[in-house]
Parts: sequence; C-alpha cells; structure tokens
Amino acid sequence: MNLNASRPALLIGLTGGIGSGKTTVANRFGALGVPLIDTDLIAHQLTGPGGPAMPAIEAEFGPSVIAADGRLDRDAMRALAFGDPGARKRLEAILHPMIRVETDRQVAAAASSPYAIVVIPLLVESKGPKRFDRIVVVDCPVDTQIERVMKRNGLPRAQVEAILAVQATRAQRLAAADDVVDNGGEPGALQAQVEALHRRYLAFVKDGALLQNPPRERDSQT
Ligand SMILES: Nc1ncnc2c1ncn2[C@@H]1O[C@H](COP(=O)(O)OP(=O)(O)O)[C@@H](O)[C@H]1O
Ligand SMILES: [Mg+2]
Repeated sequence: MNLNASRPALLIGLTGGIGSGKTTVANRFGALGVPLIDTDLIAHQLTGPGGPAMPAIEAEFGPSVIAADGRLDRDAMRALAFGDPGARKRLEAILHPMIRVETDRQVAAAASSPYAIVVIPLLVESKGPKRFDRIVVVDCPVDTQIERVMKRNGLPRAQVEAILAVQATRAQRLAAADDVVDNGGEPGALQAQVEALHRRYLAFVKDGALLQNPPRERDSQT
C-alpha cells in the first residue's frame, strides 16, 4: 500500500447523460466499498444554506438569487442566466475551482484504496478527462433517458429534450469511454456488470501502483 499517495493508484471518472443511471451505478460500486466522489453532491453542498460558495455568489449576483434559507435559488439563477448569457460563466467561475478543491480533497482522502470513482455528469463536455486513468460511461438509449428523467423530475418531454440538446451525444460519450455499463435494461442487470468492472479495476492495481497500459474493455471484446 502506498501510504503517502495523494490519490488512489487508479482514478476512474464515471459519466453518462442525464438519467442514464450514473447515481444508480455509482451506488453499486459504493456498496462494494469503493470510495465515491460525487461532484453534483459537492456542488449542492457548496450552494446549500451557509454553503462556502454562497458569499461569493451573493457578492456577484445580489440577493435575488439567494433563497430564504440561504441556499442558491436555482430557479432564480436560471431565470437570470436566461436574460444574461454571461451569468452562467460567472457562476461557473466561482463554483468550478471550489468543486475542484473539494474533489481533490476527497480523492486524497481515498488514497489508501486501490481505486476511487469520481462521478462527473459533464465529463465528456468539460475536457477534463485527462486527470482520470479510465472513463466509465453509463449508457442507455436516448428515449429511455428521456422517460426516466420525465418520471424522476416530473418534467415535460420538451424540457428534458432541451437539457439533452446541450449535453454531449450518446456517440460522443461512447467514443470517450474505456468501459461501458449498459443500463438500458432492468436494474437487476447492473450488478454483474459492476462486479465484473470492480474485479477488473482491482486487477489493474498491484502493490499500490497502476499496471502499465491496462487494456480497454472494448479491446478485449473484439
Ligand atoms: N435500469 C433502470 N431501469 C429503470 N429505472 C432506472 C434504471 N436505472 C435507473 N433508473 C431510474 O432512472 C432515474 C435516473 O437514474 P439516475 O441513477 O438518477 O441517473 P443519473 O444519475 O445518471 O441522472 C432514477 O429515478 C432511477 O431510479
Ligand atoms: Mg445522478
């Protein structure tokens, strides 16, 4: 074991489109004892009541985007960004460095594990893949994504389609993937896939170090 490491030997980036099942799949890795770092959760904590990002957000956008309990009012922020295209970038300029610092802290805290998983919804869009040793994509057909998000968030189809339109395409994500979890079927079909990837990832690490050139899953399938 590498006791001085600032990160696990193997760092996996997990991504997928909205509703593909990132959280569902990540939780199954978590149940196997794999440390999970969830950047969505970190963003919510940063912008929750009393969250560390809130003073800077209030200074930048004023009190209209602060809810009564002190959290970021996401609807108000969206409305503001609708009329001011630069607003999203200014919000990201505040949040992204803070998310990065907290992600790094949690990655470091997982350093004694052979591997850890960082869940990043917009990994393919953000040009951030370089820091990960491997990228695992949770995949399902677009229609399935839309139906799941309509049901989960109670949104009309058009609104879900609008979210999908600004995300990477299914093909773009698959092109960036080293490994793919097929979540187009029943939830019960996930467990065997997650366990197979878990064994695979553990086998990539020997004596606290990553083996050179671990094979891509697609290579071994062809
Ligand atoms: N294989 C599946 N079959 C049916 N429903 C699923 C399946 N996988 C996930 N879901 C449901 O679909 C919704 C989206 O899954 P979630 O894991 O939250 O996706 P993401 O985190 O990628 O947005 C959730 O309500 C979840 O319970
Ligand atoms: Mg999720």
